[in-house]
Amino acid sequence: MIRKIRIGILISGRGSNMNALVEACTDPAYPGRIVTVISNRPQAPGLALAQKAGIPTAVIDHTAFPGTAAFEENLHNHLIQNEVELICLAGFMRLLGAGFVRKWTDRIVNIHPSLLPDYPGLQPQARALADGRRESGCTVHIVTPEMDAGPILVQRRVPILPGDNTETLSARILEQEHLAYPEAVRVMAERLLKNKTANYKTEAALQKGLSMENHNVSVNPEELARARAMWKDFAHFTKYAIIVSVSILVLMAVFLL
Ligand code: GAR
Repeated sequence: MIRKIRIGILISGRGSNMNALVEACTDPAYPGRIVTVISNRPQAPGLALAQKAGIPTAVIDHTAFPGTAAFEENLHNHLIQNEVELICLAGFMRLLGAGFVRKWTDRIVNIHPSLLPDYPGLQPQARALADGRRESGCTVHIVTPEMDAGPILVQRRVPILPGDNTETLSARILEQEHLAYPEAVRVMAERLLKNKTANYKTEAALQKGLSMENHNVSVNPEELARARAMWKDFAHFTKYAIIVSVSILVLMAVFLL
């Protein structure tokens, strides 16, 4: 069986981008598989879509927590428990805190309905129309602590036509989003697969809050200590074995002479 990157998708609403990723993952050659879909809104229609596709879902309702830190800790733990290696934000309408983003450095991607760096934030389609722009589109990018500002993976452009309103433009962009997201996630998953240590002990590394930026976190300190103790035991054993062997040889020599 080919190795696939374990994807966790975060949604807040209808989940059409999530569905585009679900469909892409049905291709046996696609380098990722979706292991969990999480919504911060219990009523998100995307949850039913995911369940229909046989994907485990979870609701982590941000309003049920005393604050952002508690919500994000719970989210983090859920992702770790599911051994998620790549997080895809698909219409997830909450800004993730810098602490959370740093724990998942280079492992969160987002889709946004504008040609970033133009129109980060809310209602980018309406703002592009209001500015009289002739072109818009969508961007998939790696998430960094600054909103909608991380390295761009894929962009797709659409024209803004005379007579367009927010709905018609959003629909035109959305069609391109459904192509752009699977394309960008493929790039990310292939990148992670190429990096030999990237997928190994993600869980332990993230549990300890280590940055995965350089993917050089394959050494778990507890295992290192265990290996050192074993090596020490082995060295002791070898030393005593040599002493005993030499003593026997000396005794034999004395006895024979
Ligand atoms: C999509 O247009 C997506 O680009 C946008 O929300 C919509 C979600 O649709 N995301 C953002 O604006 C994030 N800043 P979907 O739930 O059908 O995928």
